[in-house]
Order: sequence, then structure tokens, then C-alpha cells
Amino acid sequence: MRKRWWKESVVYQIYPRSFYDSNGDGIGDLRGIIAKLDYLQALGVDVVWLSPFYASPNVDNGYDVSDYCDILPEFGKMADWQHLRQEMRQRGMRMMIDLVANHTSDQHRWFIESRQATDNRWREYYIWRPPRDGREPNNWQSYFGGSAWQFDPTTAEYYLHLFSRQQPDLNWENAEVRKEIYRVMHWWLDQGVDGFRLDVINLISKEPGLPDAAVTVDGPYQFGGQHFQYGPRLLEFLAEMKREVLAGRDLITVGETPGITTEQARAITDEENGFLNMVFSFEHLGVDRNPRGVGKGKWQRKAWKLSELKQIISRWQDDLHERAWNSVYLSNHDLPRPVSRFGDDCRYRDESAKMLATLLHTLQGTPYIYQGEEIGMTNVRFPSINDYRDVDTLNFYRQFADDQRLDRDEIMAAIYDRSRDNARTPMQWDGSRHAGFATVTPWLAVNPNYPEINVQRALAEPNSILHYYRQLIRLRKANPVIVYGRYELLLADDEQIYAFTRTLGETRLLVVLNFCGAESEEMGASGDWRLPEAMRDGQLLIGNYPVDPAVDPRRCRLRPYEARVYRLG
Ligand code: GLC
Ligand code: CA
Repeated sequence: MRKRWWKESVVYQIYPRSFYDSNGDGIGDLRGIIAKLDYLQALGVDVVWLSPFYASPNVDNGYDVSDYCDILPEFGKMADWQHLRQEMRQRGMRMMIDLVANHTSDQHRWFIESRQATDNRWREYYIWRPPRDGREPNNWQSYFGGSAWQFDPTTAEYYLHLFSRQQPDLNWENAEVRKEIYRVMHWWLDQGVDGFRLDVINLISKEPGLPDAAVTVDGPYQFGGQHFQYGPRLLEFLAEMKREVLAGRDLITVGETPGITTEQARAITDEENGFLNMVFSFEHLGVDRNPRGVGKGKWQRKAWKLSELKQIISRWQDDLHERAWNSVYLSNHDLPRPVSRFGDDCRYRDESAKMLATLLHTLQGTPYIYQGEEIGMTNVRFPSINDYRDVDTLNFYRQFADDQRLDRDEIMAAIYDRSRDNARTPMQWDGSRHAGFATVTPWLAVNPNYPEINVQRALAEPNSILHYYRQLIRLRKANPVIVYGRYELLLADDEQIYAFTRTLGETRLLVVLNFCGAESEEMGASGDWRLPEAMRDGQLLIGNYPVDPAVDPRRCRLRPYEARVYRLG
């Protein structure tokens, strides 16, 4: 396996709006990021991924871009961005930016033109279709609920939007569109960025004819993924992008790719013939999702099994080993907080956040930390829907508020579980008002638990989650086996313990994680003799509880959410 800096790096994702407000308007900004770079450096971060900071009407917080080469005024000016770039360079950090190429804002110049007339020069930049029997051209559902088509009276046609109706999909069949996107990429490369996170990049090629989706749920609109999640020209477009932009440069690239298989991921990230360094798979995050919820699939949680999570992660580890590369993440700006989702954010918040962090940093792949994860920030429960800002959450509420089958508590419970605003409440810097994020009321309220959970406290407490993240990052840097070693799962069927080894040459690590809030059985009874034996002979590198070396590993029980990493020779 080839050595590459981006395999050895740790990436930290910043959602600029919620990171730090430097000028007292309640909105995070670029200068705010500059002010916190020392914090990130001390954490050990190599690469910062910035969520969109471009001009945008902010229907989807910047994922609706109205000018790719301009900065959102609320975030600052181009000079601030350049300053940020320079300050990062000085600290040896690289910058990865978010490229939203599947769609633009409806306020983008191209779309404003496109909607004027059917023969407008920009018409073919988007996907326009006449009505079918007086209705939408097909039955596709938007990711944010409702139809994926919007009727536009000016020309009496519909345009496609897989996300909100203010995010029309670009027509990648049009070579000019592709050229425009490559031009944007070159422009930012010239400004000195080190790579791209490519937003929903596997959706850019739609099946010709835009056929109806198979009917799987009640209601008029259906999930059409089979017609655009790995469309017929996807690899061709990516190959062109590689040829036109990426080839011959030493960048970090990661594609956001919902719904793809390991085989498809391999095609995209193959070291020789692939196009991107890695992708974000969502498969492991599907374990607790109920695909058959009452028209609200992604909003419904289902009981999940550790064996299933292990099976999915292990398949990605195995299938991509050697020829391609994984990203490893549990958290981003679209997801509930991992400690609330896979751990216990009350009684064992500290232990379970550290246990999940241990998994994140010891799998094979580049780890991504989402802001606030490193201090164990949790989901939030705002009393009213009016406290929420996320377009997806608000759509969901509106769609179901009138539905007689669901009561308000049920809807709010789903929002507490799933809303993207769980990840977007402001970063908790200290115990002062508004968590030290801003001096005025922020654009989205802070989580009321900030007096206990904040950076200042975490820095002062030697055993904090934050210090544990620092240690893990150092451990990864000091042990190439964590980056390059082969992964092997142990105890595949165990519903409480996740154990695996990583092997590189003579070096082997053993990772043992208790995913439950209860003690495990004695390790000697685990059904795999290798565990207690390895624990006896190995050297404990890191763990989230004190370990008494005098205890015979065969008799040892893992405590709630305990995590240990051993080095075996
Ligand atoms: C990606 C982004 C998400 C956004 C969507 C549409 O999934 O992560 O925040 O809403 O794309 O751009
Ligand atoms: Ca601000």
C-alpha cells in the first residue's frame, strides 16, 4: 500500500456558521475560525474541511451556492479567507473546501437566466421538462420531502431539484456545465486550496429518460435513487474531472456518496484507475434507520444490532484494503451527535464518547472529526419547532404536522433523534452566556448543556474527552500500523464487544470496545481465546478507564463503554 499524506492525516470539519462569531452578529465567520486555529493545532488536526462559505441565500446554509467564487458577506471577505489560508499554512495545516456541484441556488446567475425562456442560453444548464398529464414529469421524491420537481410559471415547465426547490440540479449532460465546474475548481486551486469534499457527487449523472422510481411507500412520491445514485455517466464525468482538474496534483479529495456499494466505491477510489482519494459511505449509518417508516423513513429510528454495524464496517475495511481507501467518520453537519446516537449521552457520556473516538481513530482510513465531537457535544431538544432552522427539519414538520396519524410529540421525538440541527448548535467554547460562541443571541440557540460541556472545561480537565482525542491522534501518528495495517474482525457475532486487530509486518494492535452500558462477561468466556491471551501479553497503549495490571485478563470484565488498545509485539 502506498504511503500518502492524506492517509496519515486527521481531518476536522468546520461548519463556519456555528464555529465562532468574531464580530458580534451571532453568526460564525472566517475570522472566528482564524481565532481558533491554535486550538485545532493543539488537537493535532492536519486538514480542515470547511463547509460552504460562498455567496448563498442560505436556504440550506450555504449548500445552495449563488456564486462559487465569492464569499458569503456574513462570513467575511475574500481578504479574510486569504488570511485564514495563510494562518493555516503557517501552522502546517491544509484546507479542503466543499464543492457543491450537483446543484446551485435558484439565485445563481445561471438559474435566473435559465428560467427566463426555453431558448435562453443557460436553459440547458438545468434539467427542465414539460408537465406529464398536467403533473410532475416523474414520481421522484426530493431528499427533503415532497416532489423533486418544481413548476415554473414563466415557461410552464418543471425543473428538477433533488434537494430543496431553491437548489435546482445542474445538467451534467451539458459539457458547458461541466466546464464551468472545472473552472471553479481551478479558480480555488489557484487561491491555494489543498483539496475538495465533493457534495453528493454520485448524484450528478441521471438516467436518460428520467424514468419513474419503483413504488415502495404509500403516497405520490418515491425515492428514485436507482436512477441517479450511480448514474450511467458518473465514472465518465469523474474521469473527465480528473483529467481536467485533479490529475498531477497532490490533493486530498473525498466524495460524498450516499447509497453506494463497496464495489462502486472501489471504482471511484482505486489507487491506479480511480478518481478521488476516498468517499463517504453512509452504509454504517443506516443500521438504526427504518427504511419503512410511515413516509418518513429517515426520520424513524429502529433498534440496531452491534453485529450488523460490525459486519458493515468490516466489509468496507476488507473490500477497500490495499487498492482503495476509506474515510472513517461517525459525525458531520447532517447527522445526530454520535454520543447521543451510538453511546449514552447521560450516564456514560464521557466513557461512550471516548469509546466511539477509539473506534474512529483505529480503523483503517482517514478519520474525520466534526466540530464539537471532540468535547462530546450531544443532541439538543428545543421545546418548539420555532427554535429549529434546518430546511429539512422544517419541511418534515410541515409535511406531517397535519397528518392525523402522527401526533406532535411523535414528530418532535423524531426531530430530537434525527434533526440536522443536532449537529449545528453553536460550538461550546466556555461556560459564559451563549457558550462563548457569540456575545449576542446566535442564529441557532446553543445547547443548554454548555455550562458542563465546553472547551474551556475540557482543556482544564486532564481526563477529558478532548485530551483523549489528542492522545488518539498522537497514537495514530506514532503507529503506522493504524494507518496501513490490515484489519481483522474478532467475535463477529458478539452483540456487546467490538474487537479487531490491525497488522503491519510484525506489528499487531488489538482494539477491544464495549458498546454497552453494562459490564461484559469475563474475557475468558468471550469465546475467542485470542482476546485474554493478547490482553495478557500486550502493552496497553490507550484506554478510557484505569486498568489494574494485576487482574488476570481471563477474569477481567469490560466496564460500561470501556475501550482498550493493546500493542502485541
Ligand atoms: C449534502 C450536504 C447537506 C446538503 C445536501 C445538499 O448532503 O452534506 O448538508 O443539504 O448535500 O447540498
Ligand atoms: Ca459573525
